[in-house]
Amino acid sequence: MVLIIFGPPGAGKGTQASIIAKNYNMLHISTGDILRAAVKQGSELGSLAKSYMDKGELVPDNVVIGIIREVIKTSDSTDGYLLDGFPRTIPQAEALDRMLNSLSLKVDKVVSIEVPDGEIISRIGGRRVCEKCGAMYHKVYDPPKNSDICDKCEGNLYQRDDDREDVIRKRLQVYSGQTLPLKAYYRNASILREIDGLGTIDDVKSRISDSLGQKT
Ligand code: AP5
Ligand code: MG
Repeated sequence: MVLIIFGPPGAGKGTQASIIAKNYNMLHISTGDILRAAVKQGSELGSLAKSYMDKGELVPDNVVIGIIREVIKTSDSTDGYLLDGFPRTIPQAEALDRMLNSLSLKVDKVVSIEVPDGEIISRIGGRRVCEKCGAMYHKVYDPPKNSDICDKCEGNLYQRDDDREDVIRKRLQVYSGQTLPLKAYYRNASILREIDGLGTIDDVKSRISDSLGQKT
């Protein structure tokens, strides 16, 4: 199965994708996580990506398409791919269709997590991420047992560089202008499932499981 988790910044894509990938044994591919790892390594890709990410802009299509092509080519996932944060533009979606077609695969479903802007600001504002294992928390909605320390690996929690309020607003603008048109693209293909993203992480998880046709 090839599944896309779609939605605005801070909607809960990464949170839900981690749960689904574990439950369905799928390979979770997050372009945001891959780019942040490149930034941390200080690679050429990382410094290019950082110049866009820090401003809340999209990294050029050819760069992210190349990343996805490489991950899919070198992975041996048999149970499927769970794409989080990709595609984000129509050219990315078209490139993905061509890539999957050459492997006799296709996008099976697109789950769009619907969350209003006000909630997004508060979700992103309280987000904390483990610098060691990447686990995600929220100061209020999903707090760690000890503040600023990861429950899973005791790594330090930090706030992402692009989680400043001015950058969040830019990311929301970019989402509306460049990414939202993808909903029509997938609605036309009859594979779009719109999910109410309000409520607890568990509430949203159950709605997504229902829409995938299996209970977890
Ligand atoms: P990316 O890392 O993909 O960021 P994003 O799309 O802006 O989304 P986020 O990761 O901020 O949010 P999320 O939806 O994953 O929410 P989360 O689960 O963390 O991309 C970053 C940048 O990389 C882009 O701006 C761009 O520059 C570049 N990039 C990446 N992909 C690209 C591409 N394809 N093309 C070009 N450029 C690309 O949840 C948020 C918070 O809310 C957490 O604290 C969580 O604990 C909490 N939370 C989650 N669910 C709930 C709930 N139900 N109730 C309460 N709190 C909740
Ligand atoms: Mg994410």
